Amino acid sequence: MNPMSIRDALNNSPRENFSGSEPLSVVGVCLDEETWTVLKLFAESAPLIKLRSHLSEYRIQETDSPSDWFGAPAPDVCMIDFDRDRRKAAQAAEIIHSSSPETALFAVSSDPQPNFIIDAMRAGCSEYLLKPVGREQLLNAVARVGGRRRERVQSNKAQVLAFMGAKGGCGVTSLVTQLGALLANSYSKRTLIVDLHADFGDAALYLGLTKYRYHFFELVENTERLDAELLQSFLARHSSGLDLIPAPEGNDTPRRILPGSVAQTFEFLRMRYDYILVDMAPGLGEENLEMIRHCDQLHVITVAEVSALRNVVRHFDYLTRKEIPRERFRVVLNRHQKRSLISDSEIEKTLGQKIFWKVPNQYAHVVKAINGGDPIALLSSSEVTKNLRELASTIGARPSLAAEKEKKRESSGFLGLLGR
Ligand SMILES: Nc1ncnc2c1ncn2[C@@H]1O[C@H](COP(=O)(O)OP(=O)(O)OP(=O)(O)O)[C@@H](O)[C@H]1O
Ligand SMILES: [Mg+2]
Repeated sequence: MNPMSIRDALNNSPRENFSGSEPLSVVGVCLDEETWTVLKLFAESAPLIKLRSHLSEYRIQETDSPSDWFGAPAPDVCMIDFDRDRRKAAQAAEIIHSSSPETALFAVSSDPQPNFIIDAMRAGCSEYLLKPVGREQLLNAVARVGGRRRERVQSNKAQVLAFMGAKGGCGVTSLVTQLGALLANSYSKRTLIVDLHADFGDAALYLGLTKYRYHFFELVENTERLDAELLQSFLARHSSGLDLIPAPEGNDTPRRILPGSVAQTFEFLRMRYDYILVDMAPGLGEENLEMIRHCDQLHVITVAEVSALRNVVRHFDYLTRKEIPRERFRVVLNRHQKRSLISDSEIEKTLGQKIFWKVPNQYAHVVKAINGGDPIALLSSSEVTKNLRELASTIGARPSLAAEKEKKRESSGFLGLLGR
């Protein structure tokens, strides 16, 4: 294949960046000139891969370390030509595979014999590309690696779920603390609550946590030097396993938060938790707006009252003007009663959006939980707890094994007491 025709083929159909993030870094080992040229043109034609280096020999000595050959971090993809020396190519693949398993190995060869393909796969190669390597073949193989990387990144990152009241007193802190404690306890999820109130935040009080030194805004001010150790000094730990970064106590001196620093702090926190629930004060000031831009979902908590519903409409209008995608908004109707003066369908019509979740009205239980500082022990059999368990499942949490066993025991009555 001549290089000109390869270039034409690659340029013919422009494509989007399906990896959705950084291009994959690619290194070559003993590739023939034509394959290397194809790769170069492929890298030029779309931002899917970035070529890093090309080794002209198979390194198979015990003392050889792939990080010495390729540098750090390990490349996303290593393409190894098997035609020059099949045995050495397989050995090199094995060494790379065992020392950096996150690197995807592509065997490249002009020989399609099944036993050769099997040998390459046994050495750790996930793809066997036949020469002359074509655009489609490359594209598909690269897409598979990109997809796997995306899944890995996503599965390691917390969902950031923001909760804001349509007006004060709609029940944000009650729901966030109970949901947070459930996720941490019954679902064994690494869960963090961030109290984003600039003053008078209640999350610490609702969780009965009084021993903490610092608050969220001090963390944001230190975002540049944030590391795992510094984070520990900001966390208050609840007995359910839930972590909390509290709000300032009382009205602290007004703070000027640098634009972008809230998002930067959450990027750091995301890597350390499965769920981050944010207890936000009502209102659409700069910090709340930055939070809403950064979160995965914004839950606007309302009650079935005209003033609250009017605020939800205003919030959605304003946020839409600020180009926040509508799919990010979720309406949570708290203190729900079947026989309410304003019906659910009237609410949905007014808001122009379905109600995402309804939490039953159970004042006595919620107040008990708040006063006891333990949002799950007191509520274990309440309607609100059952409802929030279902919410936890809806947002993707699966109960831990211990919780499943507990539930089975509860539901099997007398036999359950005997452990059957
Ligand atoms: N599902 C519910 N059923 C009955 N009462 C509830 C429910 N959820 C919350 N409440 C009650 O509503 C009141 C306000 O709750 P909460 O403090 O959680 O609201 P908030 O939105 O965080 O308020 P603020 O705007 O002050 O932060 C509390 O007395 C609480 O007990
Ligand atoms: Mg509150």
